[in-house]
Amino acid sequence: MNIIVLGSAAGGGVPQWNCRCPVCALAWANDGRVLPRSQSSLAVSADGTDWFLVNASPDLRQQILATPALHPRHAGRDSPIRGVLLNNGDVDHLAGLLTLRERQPLSLYGTGAALDIIAGNALFGVLDAELVTRNRLVFDIPVDLGSGLSVTAFAVPGKVPLYMESGSLALGEETENVVGLEFRAGGRRFVHMPNCAFVSPAVTARAQGADLLMFDGTTFTDDEMPSLGLSLKTAARMGHIAMDGPEGSLARLSGIDAGRKLFIHLNNTNPVLIEGSDQRARVEAAGWEVARDGMEIRL
Ligand code: MLT
Ligand code: MN
Ligand code: ZN
Repeated sequence: MNIIVLGSAAGGGVPQWNCRCPVCALAWANDGRVLPRSQSSLAVSADGTDWFLVNASPDLRQQILATPALHPRHAGRDSPIRGVLLNNGDVDHLAGLLTLRERQPLSLYGTGAALDIIAGNALFGVLDAELVTRNRLVFDIPVDLGSGLSVTAFAVPGKVPLYMESGSLALGEETENVVGLEFRAGGRRFVHMPNCAFVSPAVTARAQGADLLMFDGTTFTDDEMPSLGLSLKTAARMGHIAMDGPEGSLARLSGIDAGRKLFIHLNNTNPVLIEGSDQRARVEAAGWEVARDGMEIRL
């Protein structure tokens, strides 16, 4: 299995257009300690020929330009991108679908909740349903994507997308709003959870023994955004588990035996983005890597 990290940042990217938090300030200054990062997306392939995008970020056009494996190979209209899978309906995972217009046949996979958002928004009509098939992911039912790759969606604690929040917000429920994706090819297993509100027994069970685990790395501390004066929202309120603390992912996933563990979907406020920071040292000492754009992993 081949995996390319197209974008390793959470919504907003690094730096974010309207942010001068300590991490963004270093990125704006081109300080080598903070790499610029685009928004959350991967490309996955079992054979290096047929590729599936995992989420379509607002940065997708630039991500395709930067990734030769995703360029057209044949004359006329062509793309090695066979389909797109969605972890949820957040803007950073959905907006790039609009980049994939121009009448290219594709298979789109998401839960009923994600597909309902797409069906309910007239703008996504640019993806003609006759060419871009909508395929529903059902929890725990493997889907054969062809070329030796299969995927299984599983429930992950989360919440509805920000733009669909209402007065009675349910946080941390295992619903169709957020799923993890488990890929299998050639006897290898890759588990991807860029959004996760807390480490449930189901999350632990899925992560255990994976050849590769990519996990929500939005913030280091739960009160990261409030403490910087950027937002009133804690990570928990945003549907993300922080890395630090007794209930954080470093502690709650410390018993996981995985071939490789990467934090992905990193918010620009997260100090692990600064090479040489104490927080970067802490995650690395715990056996985690911090994902970066363009990273290629072969399992
Ligand atoms: C998130 O992951 O929390 C969302 O991407 C936030 C957002 O949509 O801005
Ligand atoms: Mn996000
Ligand atoms: Zn920032």
